[in-house]
Amino acid sequence: MKNKFYVTTPIYYVNAEPHIGHTYTTVAADILARWHRQQGDETFFLTGTDEHGAKIAEKAAEAGVEPQDFVDKVSTTFQKAWSDFGISNDSFIRTTDSSHKQAVQRAVEVMLEKGVIVKDKYEGLYCQGCEQFKNEKDLINGKCPDHLTVPQWMSEEAYMFKLSNFQHELVRRIESDEIKVRPVERKNEILSFITQHGLRDVAFSREKVKWGIPFPGDENHTIYVWADAFLNYLTGLGWQGEAGVCPRMWPATVQLMSKDILRVHATIWQAMLIALDLPTSKELFIHGFFLVEGQKMSKSLDNVIAPAELIKRYGVDGARYLLMSATSFGHDGDIGRKFFDDKFTADLANGLGNLVARVSNLLEKNSIATKLRAGTDQDLTSKVSSAMNDLKFDEVLKILWQKIALMDELLSEKKPWKMESVTEISDVLVPVAQTILNVADLLLAFMPTTAQQVIKQFEANQIVKGESLFPRLVD
Ligand code: MSP
Repeated sequence: MKNKFYVTTPIYYVNAEPHIGHTYTTVAADILARWHRQQGDETFFLTGTDEHGAKIAEKAAEAGVEPQDFVDKVSTTFQKAWSDFGISNDSFIRTTDSSHKQAVQRAVEVMLEKGVIVKDKYEGLYCQGCEQFKNEKDLINGKCPDHLTVPQWMSEEAYMFKLSNFQHELVRRIESDEIKVRPVERKNEILSFITQHGLRDVAFSREKVKWGIPFPGDENHTIYVWADAFLNYLTGLGWQGEAGVCPRMWPATVQLMSKDILRVHATIWQAMLIALDLPTSKELFIHGFFLVEGQKMSKSLDNVIAPAELIKRYGVDGARYLLMSATSFGHDGDIGRKFFDDKFTADLANGLGNLVARVSNLLEKNSIATKLRAGTDQDLTSKVSSAMNDLKFDEVLKILWQKIALMDELLSEKKPWKMESVTEISDVLVPVAQTILNVADLLLAFMPTTAQQVIKQFEANQIVKGESLFPRLVD
């Protein structure tokens, strides 16, 4: 029977254009989706944009345009960035889609009927950058550590979601891995947060925020942007807001994100699912944060790297490779332009690109005919599959690049270009060509165009030298 595989990325805020942090998560999800499709699994890959809330309304006002026009424009930028990056998402959800809005309103009604949302009053601190309520303990010198801003004091009538009711059940599910939080350090971190701080009820409505989905039955309120946003993972599958009606692809096999939004995903989101009589997520995988030359990426530091910039310099597959090999998936990593340039030259231009060129050139020059098919190295395939199952993308690339290095060494040692006899040359080159083909097959999810090109080239009866895969950087 086919396995079901549903992978999601966070839906990104449209207050700013996409950068390589968003790209990293999206490429990782794309690799998983492509890999699972290649294994024959029934796969669904969802990404999208998060378009409501005070932060976005403020940006639209600064730009002097209506919020809807503003979000339309930025959402299009995200869609274009992903299409340029070869992202194979099955759907793109926008929280301003009318079907999403209706389903969210219905879900809120259901939660009101069930008594898990009740009208009350909320007082506390709110960070608009995070669009989240904060405790004093979350702050450093009175500021939000992520946004370096002083949170606002909020005191307003609000419909409260009874998150505290779910504390015990959430701890049970996370502890037992019914909701798997990975890497395991993140599981421990979230469990100790819940048990030490306890879960407080959260305001699911905002009185003063106009740019949001109207709260059902109370026109003075809009729905809290996170309550609206989380439901994308269901509405993106066509869910209409009814409790207990589970879309075919739900629960998500893996939901990717970084540590900034783990807490809300492991608590509010899972509690909403329980409240709606739906299965909780199978796995939340928390990858690391990119720093650029030691600094957090930010507009004010002028160190934001845009996805288009990477494509321009390294090509789509080059950029995908550099992102995924930059750091171990699940841990923070420091990147930068020089780091990318050096890695491009070493691993792609001098590594894979050069090996493919040398081998195909010699096979063509000596008119050596071959009939190769991919997938002959069981040991390699199983090592890669096992790393893929653990989402160790960088590890997969290391395994494959070790093979490439081994082939380079073999060629340097045997020097087939100095050999006289075609049989001798063929004996050296054909196994190397077979290895290249096996590597390319396992690279399909990572570098789809390059891998397909190499497969086509090396499955031909007469392998010929093709175009250079990774032209050297010139400046
Ligand atoms: N809109 C919310 C998510 C709602 S999901 C129901 C949000 N959006 S965001 O635009 O801020 O995206 C945050 C996510 O973008 C992170 O969790 C991570 O996936 C990705 N990244 C943003 N910056 C990043 C880095 N510097 N490094 C790695 N990933 C980063 O939060």
